[in-house]
Amino acid sequence: MTNSRKLPFCKATMISRCVAAVAFCYLFYAIVVAAKTDPADYSALQAFHNGVSDPFHRLSNWQGDPCDDSWEGVFCASDANNLFHVTELRLLNHNLSGTLAPELGNLLNLNALDLMWNNFSGNIPSTLGNVLSLTLLLLNGNILSGKVPTEIGNLINLVRFQIDENQLSGQIPPTLGNLYNVQHLHMNNNSLNGSIPHELGRLQKAIHLLLDNNNLSGALPSELSNISTLRILQLDNNPFNPQPIPLQYGEMSSLVKLSLKNCNLQGSLLNLGRLQALQYLDLSNNQLDGTIQGSPFPPNISVIVLSNNKLTGDTSHFDTFENLQALILENNQLNGSVPVSLASASRFGSTQDNLLLDFQNNTISNVSSNLTSQVHGFTKLWLYGNPVICGSPPVELRQFCVPNTIVSVPDNVPDNSVTSCQAAACNPGIDELIPPLSARGICLCASPIKMRIRLKTPGFIFFDSYLTKFETFLSVGANLTLDQVFVASRKWEGSRLVMDIKLFPTISNAGNRSFNSSELRRIYDVFSRFQIPTDPTFGPYDLISFDFPFGTQPFSSQGSSGSLSKGAIAGIILGCAFGTSVAVAVGMFLLMRRRRLPKSAVNIFGRNADHGNIKISGVKYFTMEELLSATDSFSESHCIGRGGYGKVYKGVFKDGQVVAIKCAQEGSLQGFNEFHTEIELLSRVHHRNLVSLMGYCNDDGQQILVYEFISGGTLRDNLSPDLEEPLDFPTRIQVALGSARGILYLHTEAYPPIFHRDIKASNILLDEHKVAKVADFGLSKLAPTCEVDGSTPDHVSTVVKGTPGYLDPQYFLTRQLTDKSDVYSFGVVLLELITGMYPISQGKNLVREVNLTLVGGRFLSMVDSTMGPYPSEALERSLRLALACSSQELVDRPSMVDVVRELEDIQRSTPWMKSKAADSDYASDTDTKIFLSQKYLESSNDIWHVAPR
Ligand SMILES: *[C@@H]1O[C@H](CO)[C@@H](O)[C@H](O)[C@H]1NC(C)=O
Ligand SMILES: *[C@@H]1O[C@H](CO)[C@@H](O)[C@H](O)[C@H]1NC(C)=O
Ligand SMILES: *[C@@H]1O[C@H](CO)[C@@H](O)[C@H](O)[C@H]1NC(C)=O
Ligand SMILES: *[C@@H]1O[C@H](CO)[C@@H](O)[C@H](O)[C@H]1NC(C)=O
Ligand SMILES: *[C@@H]1O[C@H](CO)[C@@H](O)[C@H](O)[C@H]1NC(C)=O
Repeated sequence: MTNSRKLPFCKATMISRCVAAVAFCYLFYAIVVAAKTDPADYSALQAFHNGVSDPFHRLSNWQGDPCDDSWEGVFCASDANNLFHVTELRLLNHNLSGTLAPELGNLLNLNALDLMWNNFSGNIPSTLGNVLSLTLLLLNGNILSGKVPTEIGNLINLVRFQIDENQLSGQIPPTLGNLYNVQHLHMNNNSLNGSIPHELGRLQKAIHLLLDNNNLSGALPSELSNISTLRILQLDNNPFNPQPIPLQYGEMSSLVKLSLKNCNLQGSLLNLGRLQALQYLDLSNNQLDGTIQGSPFPPNISVIVLSNNKLTGDTSHFDTFENLQALILENNQLNGSVPVSLASASRFGSTQDNLLLDFQNNTISNVSSNLTSQVHGFTKLWLYGNPVICGSPPVELRQFCVPNTIVSVPDNVPDNSVTSCQAAACNPGIDELIPPLSARGICLCASPIKMRIRLKTPGFIFFDSYLTKFETFLSVGANLTLDQVFVASRKWEGSRLVMDIKLFPTISNAGNRSFNSSELRRIYDVFSRFQIPTDPTFGPYDLISFDFPFGTQPFSSQGSSGSLSKGAIAGIILGCAFGTSVAVAVGMFLLMRRRRLPKSAVNIFGRNADHGNIKISGVKYFTMEELLSATDSFSESHCIGRGGYGKVYKGVFKDGQVVAIKCAQEGSLQGFNEFHTEIELLSRVHHRNLVSLMGYCNDDGQQILVYEFISGGTLRDNLSPDLEEPLDFPTRIQVALGSARGILYLHTEAYPPIFHRDIKASNILLDEHKVAKVADFGLSKLAPTCEVDGSTPDHVSTVVKGTPGYLDPQYFLTRQLTDKSDVYSFGVVLLELITGMYPISQGKNLVREVNLTLVGGRFLSMVDSTMGPYPSEALERSLRLALACSSQELVDRPSMVDVVRELEDIQRSTPWMKSKAADSDYASDTDTKIFLSQKYLESSNDIWHVAPR
């Protein structure tokens, strides 16, 4: 921070600096005076608090303003009006009890509700179904009772729904089949009854479906096999109707674990050879009675549990399993001999790997000495209860003929290997030796994050051979080095594996051995928001506890003005109150001093920003020097646009690469964490109809994003009436479809989902092939805006973020942002495409005008005359679609999926456009396109209209 280089970015003239200073001052005033929590959110939290019993006073700081005063577990974001909304309520494992107030349903911007591992009782409030922004709803590990509200099915953005380990009863609502974004559905260990609704087969993104340990009856729905993404299906311990395993379950090619223990299954064993991904199969404690024939298991399987059935047949079918860990067949009627090939598995005899072969209580008649001679180390062969072998066993077989039970699954003790380091050198209770380093003779102490994780349904029963893989999985998933991750202990609880994990800081060259607060926050988010990509072998995990290192508190300065002295605030307020000239002075003073003020002075979230270079895979880090040279020191001639966020420059790097460089300006700066989050979010968003982020720069605490450069200009420019080559109708449909696909991706594929909030024709760019690219999405929308050029100095008091003419009237009225707000704005863009008009011109609103002319039957007069010929039916359908999108009421608007489908259909419905769709993606030769257009135009029987010029 001692760098004294002059502020280069968004280079302002002296005059615009003054104007900026005024704006900045106003902005500051707005933050200090008006930064507070939405009253609706505040009263919802109050109502929740009133229902909570908090014996350990964990919520003792719930006083004052929730966001401004950093209430425990409350996370906020501010809108354009500097009003804070609660976006997360995370109180996992806080020893809370009481009931969940229905007012929680008023937290309409809530993204994560995490109340796991407390003692909440009573019902799940049905009002939670109103919180459409929820992506994480985590209520597991409480004592909630009553039914699962059908309204939960409204939460179409939900990615994770965990209500396991409660006392919920009643039926599983069929509406849960509407949760088309849900990936994790954990409802095990309740008292749910009735049958599993076949609607769950519609969950096209589900990965884990856990319904075990309930009171479910009825038939196993064959529709579950429609979930092509499903990896874990666990239905153990439910009194289903006696029935065979549905045939369709043999086709679930992504399935890694199938657990149907004690499910009342009958009939013969289904051939599961086609489940190529299957690693873990448990069909024990049923009444399966067929004969095992052929080779019913995929070769890669590692655990097969078929105990306590009535299976017959020859055990020689159990062979050639490369990765076998356990073959548990006890208490059946199997005969034949134990296949010697089991002994040839590579793991045999290895001291690292376990292998359990349990043939107890069958009618096995033979075991080869080739096999038994190789059984040692961690291999176990259990043959007790097979009369022919163990009736009066010869000496060499006796050891295999003693009764054994799988009480706790055997595993090796954790490796506490002696190191040459003296643990005493560390401060007890504060720090400790870093085991991965001390194992290599490097003796350093540090204070770790301690967390407890439970693998809910791992794909193995012995952990040892997975230890390194697991540590690697955690370190890669959490973006740590392998040396930072240590599994300190592990314990099986039934089929679940509980582990205590320690995460150590990296050791800097300067010998610094502690996490900084942003790193702590990041790691906490990674684990508590389940951001580690799921691994098929390890399955879903529970986060049981998360303890920050000794003496750290990563969320301590969450409030918005926490790090400015009261005097400074008072001074600024006073200065602003004196009138513009004084304000300019104060503002300029502030601007000059800005670099000496703590960064949080301009940080609307006010957390202690910790400025270092962020490393995020997939995006490039640019230095200020590179950007300066690419933009001729941010000269005005490179400026290609300005928006709420700041200015946009065209940059050309030395290697000839052209980019668009977007600089945050005063007032648009986000907190460091938010900036980091935004980059991380944007780095994962990739779609051909979205402008991609290439990199960023945060030298000197500046916030600059570097995007791919799109050469064809904005859609608005391309609708200008005096273009030489105006867009023809098929191209307009193509552009509409591309934009719609981009928006749909933001709504459904981005995680967390992104609502654009500012869809407009000038935010849609066209490349040289007229492929639409939606621009300007991301969290920067949360930042307040303030025009540098001073044209709208009262900008900060705009009520709702968005652009007049495109703004969803419902959002405006209710401030409730939904995906349908983008649908509305998209409808306006579609009307612009059809009419060429601006959303608001001469005081007239396009949506209203079109509706009026439609009523008067005069609509054709509004069709853009530069567009050339168009098929009347396709135009009419597009128009109907546009008006449906821009309906006043949310319910009347189609979803983005439907919009895309309808546009695809419109495109398909005319041969001209079909060919266009097929070739426009790749064709660069416009002549070909025109030729095709003409050809199809001539051959088409459709009625074509040309709008009067
Ligand atoms: C819940 O209550 C039970 C009994 O009162 C207690 O043993 C348990 O520790 C509590 N759990 C939590 C997370 O507070
Ligand atoms: C508080 O919660 C922890 C973690 O669940 C539990 O171990 C402990 O027993 C609880 N304490 C009380 C008094 O309920
Ligand atoms: C789930 O329920 C089963 C059966 O009641 C029980 O054995 C098991 O321990 C429970 N699991 C958890 C994690 O509570
Ligand atoms: C399970 O459901 C049956 C009805 O299907 C009911 O009679 C029984 O009491 C339920 N058992 C439990 C433990 O809830
Ligand atoms: C077999 O299992 C191993 C690990 O258990 C895995 O890496 C491999 O991809 C699997 N092969 C197939 C075909 O699923």
